[in-house]
Amino acid sequence: MRTTRFHVLTLFPEMIVQGLSPSVIGRACEKNIISLNAVNIRDYSTDRHGKTDDYPYGGGAGMLMQAQPVYDAHKAVTGGKKIRTIYVTPQGIPFTQAKAEELAKEDELVFICGHYEGIDERVLEETVTDYISIGDYVLTGGELPAMVMIDAIARLIPGVLGNDFSSEEESFHNDLLEYPQYSRPEQWHGRKVPEVLLSGNHKKVTEWRLEQAKQRTSARRPDLYRKYQEKQQLIKRLAVHKRNNIHMMEGLARGQAEILYSDAVSTVLLHNRRCKTCMAIAADEAAGITIAEKLPEDTELVMVSDFCLKELLVQRRFKAYGPYVQMLYTRREVLPVRYRDIRPLTPDHLPYVCGRYCDDAGGPGVDSEYIRARIQAGAMYGAFAEERIVGFAGIHSEGSLGMLFVEEPFRRQGIAAALEACAVNRMLEKGWTPYGQISAENTASIKLQEKLGFYRAEKTFWWLEKTLANST
Ligand code: ADE
Repeated sequence: MRTTRFHVLTLFPEMIVQGLSPSVIGRACEKNIISLNAVNIRDYSTDRHGKTDDYPYGGGAGMLMQAQPVYDAHKAVTGGKKIRTIYVTPQGIPFTQAKAEELAKEDELVFICGHYEGIDERVLEETVTDYISIGDYVLTGGELPAMVMIDAIARLIPGVLGNDFSSEEESFHNDLLEYPQYSRPEQWHGRKVPEVLLSGNHKKVTEWRLEQAKQRTSARRPDLYRKYQEKQQLIKRLAVHKRNNIHMMEGLARGQAEILYSDAVSTVLLHNRRCKTCMAIAADEAAGITIAEKLPEDTELVMVSDFCLKELLVQRRFKAYGPYVQMLYTRREVLPVRYRDIRPLTPDHLPYVCGRYCDDAGGPGVDSEYIRARIQAGAMYGAFAEERIVGFAGIHSEGSLGMLFVEEPFRRQGIAAALEACAVNRMLEKGWTPYGQISAENTASIKLQEKLGFYRAEKTFWWLEKTLANST
């Protein structure tokens, strides 16, 4: 199992340990999903008295942390490996949810906490990859900001918030602030809970909450609200070809995709930071070139539905997988699950799933690491016969249905349909529109989805994977 490792170089390691251990983060450490290593910089001082600071050259108030102990502590932690190293400083770029999502993809992170008036610039130049601030105010040290960042990053790591999709789910409201919430009693200080919340009418409650979230965002964060409106407008435009564009509409509606480029017609580039995946459509070849040039550096996968875009990316040494058929379920009714024993998978099932689904069968980007993360995110279901797993299905990190497999002796008994139904119902519960891409060769799977009530997009789809040769 992968453990994400956080190292914090600090003069107050007990602050980090005591600050984070009693929380959700502490429980994730116990489960080995993450590890927290608070390193005392003072232990690396070569001074007889453990001194780590000195006066700044050129004068000025206060003391400066010296280069040597910080450097040696860093070297001890990294062992000379290149590990992303964050210096928490009010002079850094602002820490945002986007930054947290980006950093949550790393296997290992080092945080350097400054004290006094700062740290000798030379050691920062040699060790630091990112300068990040938690806001425009100055604290007495870097420990609190480091804890803030670790908390925000760790809760995005699959498994940390429990096996329930939690951090992925919340994204539906990502572009809006939370709506107001109420608990018992119904009346308090003469203030009543809004009537609609007592009505038991789910649809009305959802509408009310969305409206409240919009009003609140518009009043308190007009900047966020503008972004939300821009996405809503693009969703409307994409809805003209809903079957072809459902993957992009859902990425936007679920709050997972950002708009990197969109023109008024039919050239759009979306980016899902969390899984380093882009989705693009291009009206023509010239538009395709624009899209190809705007792909973020760290893009690993691109989903396209225009032949010219596919060809352009292949020329740029992406490897093409496909063609795929995109299918979507536009009804609201839940599907019947006609199999008794279907439940979420646990990491114990990883070898079974990988044995049957990794390598070529799984398609681009699907390896054991990926499957492990999907299991930990609570996004994979298994069908069991007498306690033995006989099949599985799941929800991909960018939101599509997939990873369907049923063992040969158990096929043609409705198990695949039941697994699909389970995932579909889960998505419907969240107000999502279920969709997926199926290899065009996999006629059995396409037929199954048609039987379940899915529609087929007219366009053909390809996944493009960045090859190593391309990333130089
Ligand atoms: N160290 C002191 N103040 C800070 C801030 N606002 N953000 C990050 N690190 C800091």
